[in-house]
Amino acid sequence: MRQFIVLGHDAPTTPDFSLDDIAGGAGRLDVLCRCVNSAFFLSHAIREDVRVHLVLGDEYTVRFEGSELRRLNPDERSTAALIRKALEKRDEAIGHMPAESSPGVSIRRMGFETTLEDAARDATVVELHEDGDPVVDVEPPENPLFVLSDHNDFTEAEAELLTEASDQRVRLGPEVLHADHSITVAHNYLDTAGYSQY
Ligand SMILES: C[S@@+](CC[C@H](N)C(=O)[O-])C[C@H]1O[C@@H](n2cnc3c(N)ncnc32)[C@H](O)[C@@H]1O
Repeated sequence: MRQFIVLGHDAPTTPDFSLDDIAGGAGRLDVLCRCVNSAFFLSHAIREDVRVHLVLGDEYTVRFEGSELRRLNPDERSTAALIRKALEKRDEAIGHMPAESSPGVSIRRMGFETTLEDAARDATVVELHEDGDPVVDVEPPENPLFVLSDHNDFTEAEAELLTEASDQRVRLGPEVLHADHSITVAHNYLDTAGYSQY
């Protein structure tokens, strides 16, 4: 299982945003939608062995489960609609119990710390950071949990939590990439690890 936590610092925590303004009024929700796209889409299939956790404003986490996903399309608008639908169910997410909003999509009343704790069970936590160790020097974990920030830096509090929880802090390459591109590179790294023909 490959997992990705993406921290949406400016992301909405209520459903009252317009699908026509996801890059503006919805706090760069477009970035998170592209991360979902990169995490799941192959050309003609979906990666089923993937789970994505979008942390929205450190209040809610929307989870996408590859093996159960239906109605996920490659465009950002329809992914934003799935997130909005999840937020419409937020009052049904009581304690840490999830509320499912569509097949494979659920919402939890959890910020980053709890989401990280929960997802890290049986996973190797890998902080994706442009200042980390070169990825080629790191043995690819069997069940990685990659943690990425959105268009902002990790906050100090997040960085501290990650320092405690991370098994690895990894740089995918010499350039600072967009979060969604980092996911594509991480997948490619794992897809090709150990296969010399690539
Ligand atoms: C656009 S970057 C975040 C902002 C960035 N600190 C900056 O100065 O622009 C989005 C996220 O992608 C990941 N990322 C970007 N470049 C990376 C790299 N070369 N190696 C590993 N992760 C990277 C990190 O998780 C980063 O927080």
